[in-house]
Amino acid sequence: MADNQFDLVVIGAGPGGYVAAIRAAQLGMSVACIDKRGAAGGTCLNVGCIPSKALLKSSEKFAEAQNELAVHGVETGEISLDLKTMIGRKDAVVDGLTKGISFLFKKNKVEEIIGEACLFEAGKVSVNTDNGVRILEANKILIATGSEPLSLSGLNIDEKKIVTSTGALSLLKVPDHLVVIGAGYIGLEMASVWSRLGAKVTVVEFLDRITPMMDHETAETLHKNLQKQGIEFRLGTKVVEAKTSKNGVCLKIIPASGGEVDTIDCNVVLQAIGRRPYTDGLGLENLGVLQDERGFISVDEKFETNVRGVFAIGDVIPGPMLAHKAEEEGTVAVEMMAGHSGHIDYNNIPAVIYTSPEVASVGRTEEQLKEAGISYCVGKFPFSANSRARSSGIDSSGFVKILTDKATDTILGSHIVGHDAGTIIAELTLAMEFSASAEDLARTCHAHPTLNEAVKEAALAAWGKPIHV
Ligand code: FAD
Ligand code: NAI
Repeated sequence: MADNQFDLVVIGAGPGGYVAAIRAAQLGMSVACIDKRGAAGGTCLNVGCIPSKALLKSSEKFAEAQNELAVHGVETGEISLDLKTMIGRKDAVVDGLTKGISFLFKKNKVEEIIGEACLFEAGKVSVNTDNGVRILEANKILIATGSEPLSLSGLNIDEKKIVTSTGALSLLKVPDHLVVIGAGYIGLEMASVWSRLGAKVTVVEFLDRITPMMDHETAETLHKNLQKQGIEFRLGTKVVEAKTSKNGVCLKIIPASGGEVDTIDCNVVLQAIGRRPYTDGLGLENLGVLQDERGFISVDEKFETNVRGVFAIGDVIPGPMLAHKAEEEGTVAVEMMAGHSGHIDYNNIPAVIYTSPEVASVGRTEEQLKEAGISYCVGKFPFSANSRARSSGIDSSGFVKILTDKATDTILGSHIVGHDAGTIIAELTLAMEFSASAEDLARTCHAHPTLNEAVKEAALAAWGKPIHV
């Protein structure tokens, strides 16, 4: 007979839930982690971060082989695409990593349960498994049920012609024309994948700019780069109707501010207009767990809901919907349950869009600093003056930008457009975690030649004068 008593029951085995479960077990708790998906890893590993990055890398290699090798003197002959192999590789990567989490569960003695969980009554969770209903008891319950795509009214998702990111990660054929609704993270990453593989891509965005959450100058640079790659943008535009036919989809669009109706005929439409917290069937009402007006579960600084012993983390609570934010919250939540102190600096959570070039940011944008009335200095260094970028022949149209407090030189934010920006931003995130100044970074010895030397030069630019421009 299975033991149904645990110190902690975690609902959801995404990056928030599985990390929390493992950390709690390391801290000595008996833990069960439930997920209805059948494979651990949540949205991130199964249909999010990992499969999208696998396809971004494969499509980047395809585009590189077509357009970038000849200049290095590498002759390839005719390049062709084997989409089945590309998608198969992506699926194999996902399979390997999700199995890796089940291995980590075993290693840490976390009981992995496959089934749908429902808050049943105080301290009890019912789980609908293939072998019937199991009732688990625990003093502490952690909700980590994640999010799901928002949907536009009038668009019927069939995951074939009108798709969410899940369908866009598994198309069987490169569409002749893909329309992406929403110029945010998913829209731009998926637009990049399918454009590189040969689709005509049109991105329809409601606002008059792409990536509204991003530093304006950085977004502009990315926008120009993506346009150069052939991606078409219809900004300030909204979709009012989508009609599917045998051949594809006819979209009716109008200017966001009102005006004449236009149409776009395409083969596939990707809807990527944001995500909402997922709590369907969770039984929050059975315990009276409070949610805000947008459906996010409300928590205090210990991630505890209004119901004692019920906690929540990750996409299902307010804040950026990012895997690493969910992981940090999961770790800190269980550490606090175990009596440790914990804290997350939400101003210091990096964000990366894995387009080419990548864009990465941490801390505040120039617009936010202006709005807050903070006097700041800008230090900027272009990758075109960075010897590693030049010698590698990678796109060097981007830059590292560092924003510092004018009075104290403390770093307040950083925004990077360029190759491997997502890796480079870690240096700035660490610097901000330790409240470093631009001078601290400028005086740190950086290996030569590396892309990170652009960080040192941007810091020099913010604090004094750069050497190489
Ligand atoms: P999730 O990962 O969504 O996991 C929740 C789990 O709970 C799911 O597996 C679900 O099956 C399970 N569940 C829900 N209800 C129940 C129930 N009642 N009973 C049992 N199980 C239940 N973020 C990044 O930081 N970097 C990226 O590169 C990135 N790329 C992304 C690409 C795409 C296409 C998408 C869609 C998202 C991406 N994200 C990325 C966002 C990232 O996936 C999420 O922020 C992250 O997965 C949130 O983690 P979570 O643990 O809160 O929830
Ligand atoms: P998003 O919030 O990043 O972008 C949505 C975009 O759609 C915005 O530009 C918004 O203005 C636009 N929009 C909203 N309504 C619209 C409408 N009716 N018509 C046209 N445009 C409209 O959301 P997205 O791309 O769906 O991604 C969801 C979340 O998943 C992200 O916010 C992010 O947290 C996470 N994610 C993270 C990734 C990463 O870290 N690299 C990659 C993919 C997703």
